Amino acid sequence: MTPRVSPPSSKPPHESSSPALQQPSSPLPEGHSELLAGHVKVDVAWVNENINISAKYPSEVGSKSLNLRSQTRFCFCLSSKERCRARCQTANLLGVLLGRRIRMATDNKLRFVTSMLEFPSGAGNISALNAIILGEALASEENDLVFPSDDFARQAHVSSPQQYFEMYKSLHALRISTFAKGNISIQWFKGGLTNICYNCLDRNIESGNADKIAIYWEGNDPGLQDSLTYSQLLDKVCQLSNYLKDVGVKKGDAVVIYLPMLMELPIAMLACARIGAVHSVVFAGYSSESLAQRIIDCKPKVVITCNAVKRGAKVIHLKDIVDAALAESAKNGISVDVCLTYENQIALKREGTKWKEGKDVWWQDFVPKYPTTCEVEWVDAEDPLFLLYTSGSTGKPKGVLHTTGGYMVYSATTFKYAFDYKPSDVYWCTADCGWITGHSYVTYGPMLNGASVVVFEGTPTYPDAGRCWDIVDKFKVTIFYTAPTLVRSLMRESNEHVTRYSRKSLRVLGSVGEPINPSAWRWFFNVVGDSRCPISDTWWQTETGGFMITPLPGAWPQKPGSATFPFFGVQPVIVDEKGVEIEGVCSGYLCIKNSWPGAFRTLYGDHERYETTYFKPFAGYYFTGDGCSRDKDGYHWLTGRVDDVINVSGHRIGTAEVESALVSHPKCAEAAVVGVEHEVKGQGIYAFVTLVEGEPYSEELRKSLVLTVRNQIGAFAAPDKIHWAPGLPKTRSGKIMRRILRKIASKQLDELGDTSTLAEPHVVEQLIELADR
Ligand code: WTA
Repeated sequence: MTPRVSPPSSKPPHESSSPALQQPSSPLPEGHSELLAGHVKVDVAWVNENINISAKYPSEVGSKSLNLRSQTRFCFCLSSKERCRARCQTANLLGVLLGRRIRMATDNKLRFVTSMLEFPSGAGNISALNAIILGEALASEENDLVFPSDDFARQAHVSSPQQYFEMYKSLHALRISTFAKGNISIQWFKGGLTNICYNCLDRNIESGNADKIAIYWEGNDPGLQDSLTYSQLLDKVCQLSNYLKDVGVKKGDAVVIYLPMLMELPIAMLACARIGAVHSVVFAGYSSESLAQRIIDCKPKVVITCNAVKRGAKVIHLKDIVDAALAESAKNGISVDVCLTYENQIALKREGTKWKEGKDVWWQDFVPKYPTTCEVEWVDAEDPLFLLYTSGSTGKPKGVLHTTGGYMVYSATTFKYAFDYKPSDVYWCTADCGWITGHSYVTYGPMLNGASVVVFEGTPTYPDAGRCWDIVDKFKVTIFYTAPTLVRSLMRESNEHVTRYSRKSLRVLGSVGEPINPSAWRWFFNVVGDSRCPISDTWWQTETGGFMITPLPGAWPQKPGSATFPFFGVQPVIVDEKGVEIEGVCSGYLCIKNSWPGAFRTLYGDHERYETTYFKPFAGYYFTGDGCSRDKDGYHWLTGRVDDVINVSGHRIGTAEVESALVSHPKCAEAAVVGVEHEVKGQGIYAFVTLVEGEPYSEELRKSLVLTVRNQIGAFAAPDKIHWAPGLPKTRSGKIMRRILRKIASKQLDELGDTSTLAEPHVVEQLIELADR
């Protein structure tokens, strides 16, 4: 990967009034923000008092630097700091004056609310008042409002819908860029220099938090713990940054990280960011083939891994997987100079690790010898920060590219507001850093806010289903963020696994990755949170960088299963098949109408695919790939993917990826994969497989097909069901009718619809017959 913007680093930032950032001394280049006609225009700057990014922001008035010390709680600035401050003060005042909430306490915390007259969600006018009847008589989730307690709301950053509304409006009233037709080029804070590692570590240390715990680490085996303060974390990050520089990693170079949830994983991410290198974390559950595919695409200078990891009682030899991936990449002409390997002694001693002198380097032998200080590489706000591959509707994963400044402001701000973060919180997100959630809400968002973060290496049900609550009590976790899959799997076990722990420290819960069904929501709320902790059901994507539709826990009465309302500055719209916005109560395709700072900027090496996938389906909008309904109160209900992506346990898997793995099996002629409802995983993978002529079905072959997918993608993508298919339902032009396959898979046989237009209508009957073979 070549550096995109690489001016030589300027002097350290400490002398400037906004510490994280050097203001370029010369005026900004003409037109740096007024992008070329037809491009996305960004004319609003986001500023949060906690984040030091200077935005030389564009406006009709000309560029001015922002006073980052302003006392505003949260503001979006249009043209001058005075206007901005005035606007925010007015908003805060209005929030207090208008804080008119009608409340009626009940045992189960269901209350009564006036609905907003108008919501900023594209919902248009909504009927003035929804009378909410309390208690068991509630007919549907839509009418079920669960309020934050008075105590919670009182201390929250945003304490009422009115306050949210005013804050939202203060931005919404401004001219916000839209995705104009034509080339999409998104830029935020371009020309501002910053460094996200500096903002995560140095800045917190300089503000007196050197001895605050940054990471509490809990190993796979209970009793195995460690921790790092912010200053200890900085030391370790600097040592690794120095090592990376020493082996030739420069600004703009890619580094692939294939590590389990050891502290070394966030350390490695931060070390790359510190020197301007672009990290690409690959989830350590991916197979060697998938890892090789990613290495070949981004051509890293270094791969960072560990020798092995324990998952539950099993030891997995990660280094062997990396070796196989590196061999495969070398065959494709991509050779990696260094494989830095952490010796994870708990799982495997170094003597048991296969080793290649010259290329393989033990982390412990080299990294600790480097100095604990390392100069920060100041990067442009639009320089790349990381690549993260995600599944799309073709077999080739997409390299989602995020840049620095906008992502930084967005991850920090969303973290603070959606979890109502306070410096005394202890925060735990169960996601792995191999996914976007681990980027934005294990590492960057929390650390930018100076939070103490729990990093957990193990599985939540090992040694038993009470593990999470044991960890919550041990570290006095106050904010717990997880996925519906985990909630559903724990729900199936006895509540005693939960109730034997105190969980008194908890105050906010969070959910992500897939729609949380109302019964799981209620269990999470009532059993885990003792009916006292609001749940932030955060809807977002790898592509969005941070939360897009999310409750603000002190502000919103919640509806179990709804992600509620857009975050500040986000304009979600629901469109019909023709791309026409629908107002009021409706269902349709979820799109975003405007640019937000955390948006991904491109798909690495394939800007055309970026535009085609996300901006072409509905011209003028970013298309999320999700379906969504909006109810009479303007609440958003995400209904799942509408493209060929399956969401298994909150992990995105493209049906095409699984299909191409299946057809690589010598005995498979054709495969079609669809998602089916799964009690725990949300969706399961259901594969229809046509064997090559003359091959008999057998249990052995079924296992071998599943194994092929595990080896090619990873265990998490293994099909739950192989359905033998002598033929597949196709149109006369040869297109597989997935709609019919979905109905067969979910046994909705009375909803098959018209099958007479199929090339061979009888295959449907055959498939139904073979369903249980
Ligand atoms: C789904 C994960 C409903 C959605 C952060 C989206 C959700 C995809 C929610 C992105 C939620 C994520 N409610 N659905 N709260 N959060 N999704 O890129 O289908 O791994 O498009 O990012 O997960 O998955 P990704």
